[in-house]
Amino acid sequence: MIEPFETPRLRLRPIAGDDVDRLVELDADPAVMQFITGGAPTPRDEAERIVARSIGHRWLAFERDGTFAGWFGLRPSAAHDRELGYRLTRACWGRGLATEGARALVDLAFTGLDASRVWAQTMTVNTASRRVMEHCGMRYVRTFFTDWPEPISGSEEGDVEYELTRAEWSRDR
Ligand SMILES: CC(C)(COP(=O)(O)OP(=O)(O)OC[C@H]1O[C@@H](n2cnc3c(N)ncnc32)[C@H](O)[C@@H]1OP(=O)(O)O)[C@@H](O)C(=O)NCCC(=O)NCCS
Repeated sequence: MIEPFETPRLRLRPIAGDDVDRLVELDADPAVMQFITGGAPTPRDEAERIVARSIGHRWLAFERDGTFAGWFGLRPSAAHDRELGYRLTRACWGRGLATEGARALVDLAFTGLDASRVWAQTMTVNTASRRVMEHCGMRYVRTFFTDWPEPISGSEEGDVEYELTRAEWSRDR
């Protein structure tokens, strides 16, 4: 079970089955999806599957006035490993909200979810996402290349992986 929690500017609550419309709306913005699908929206049936498999490790985020801000996640990927993810509405970009939420999730992974490692990946060219990872104290691990069926602009530069171990997190606190 995951719990709701707050940061100075965000309220986060666990995603639920009836949040499909919010995900469809978020993913309908081509700018939001640029480094994920090349801009293509997420079809509703796929959003339904995504929501179903995100329950228990993804939170929806809202600004203090109730405005939907996007989502943050800590997907279990292996025993004691969690993959950090985030996606915000364009109106929220450039205000430090991604960094604020992501940092809180990293802390939660180590204090409440028994993680020994938090990692994340993004397209090499997704500078904003890489900066969020760096602001969370994560360290660049590798660049890798995946054969996507439909390559998107920038995919020729591959993807990058970052990580933060519990020991590094404890040391840097
Ligand atoms: C990635 C994302 C969450 C970042 O959100 P954000 O609100 O801009 O993040 P922050 O305000 O916390 O800023 C993080 C850093 O990115 C930088 N940044 C933001 N947009 C940028 C851009 N277009 N180009 C370069 N740097 C950018 C900011 O300057 C900041 O770095 P700084 O503190 O060194 O100046 C947001 O752009 C997003 O939701 N994108 C779509 C989904 C996505 O790509 N998710 C990640 C997939 S792995």
